[in-house]
Amino acid sequence: MRAVAVSPAKVILFGEHFVVGGNTALSMAIDLPTIVTIEEAEKNAHIISNDLGLGITFSPQGEVLESVGLNAEGTLRPIFEVAKHTLDQMDQSRRGLKITVRSNVPIGMGLGSSAATAVSTVSGIATLFGKEMSREAIFEAAYSLERIVHGHPSGVDQATVTYGGLIAYRAGRIRAKLEITSPPLLVIGNTGMMRSTGKFVGKVAKMRTEEPDEYSRIAADAQRICERAMKALREGDQALLGSLMNENQKLLELIGVSSPELEGLITAARSAGALGAKLTGGGGGGCMIAITKPEYRSKVAGAIEQAGGRIVPSAFAPHGVRSSREE
Ligand code: PMV
Repeated sequence: MRAVAVSPAKVILFGEHFVVGGNTALSMAIDLPTIVTIEEAEKNAHIISNDLGLGITFSPQGEVLESVGLNAEGTLRPIFEVAKHTLDQMDQSRRGLKITVRSNVPIGMGLGSSAATAVSTVSGIATLFGKEMSREAIFEAAYSLERIVHGHPSGVDQATVTYGGLIAYRAGRIRAKLEITSPPLLVIGNTGMMRSTGKFVGKVAKMRTEEPDEYSRIAADAQRICERAMKALREGDQALLGSLMNENQKLLELIGVSSPELEGLITAARSAGALGAKLTGGGGGGCMIAITKPEYRSKVAGAIEQAGGRIVPSAFAPHGVRSSREE
């Protein structure tokens, strides 16, 4: 008996960073799957990622008993913590598990890879033991763990991969799931530069305390952009979305989370005819998004590649995490 859980990845369209301070963010699930398979094992927790060439065995108390690959513990311990927490919650803490993770989501690039892994792990374990778990409970479990690991995350990543589709998120919960007829046509460009979201969240927190007036003024502009973007998304106004993305990017530059590499890809996309472009996620590297008309899509993608970026092929994912049991 095993359970298989699949989560999408995500891109934040508007409001990253400002969401940590209480603003709204608009976030969209994309169809890059993270697949987690859960099987019962005799004892201990065995966690394997063949894509990363990593494997590790933890005792129930969290000691490393065996490890294969570079920094397997750093990469895989968060999965152990999520699994342990989920088993404890279900009064199954004595169970052993084999957890196999498969994913093409680039790690540390702002596409929600760690949230997708955590959410799939929670959902898969619940399914294996036949426990009904609401999306809200899955989100809460993954989010509470992220709070332990990363300090003050907003939870927008966990919410997006749990619920899927396009969401408006604020202060720890989904405010609206936007029902849209045509999702925005995006090109995602990866700078290839891994960075720590926590470092940039810390930088913005410093600005919030040291320059509160300046920060509040910028955050108020970001909130207005988000509200206009919500309306534009509902009305399918791609041109307006593009110019709002450009405005949002300016604010992200003002709070110091952009980078020359991101700006190189953003400028290339705009020059090739994109309606607008901005960084997505934690910034400082990682990914950018551009919104385009269909006829400009390949030109925009080509320009991003020419400027040194890698295209992340993906489309809108209407569904959040899904899991099933297999004999
Ligand atoms: O995990 P990332 O890099 O996609 O960033 C998440 C979005 C932030 O607003 C920067 C952080 C957060 O917790 O909301």
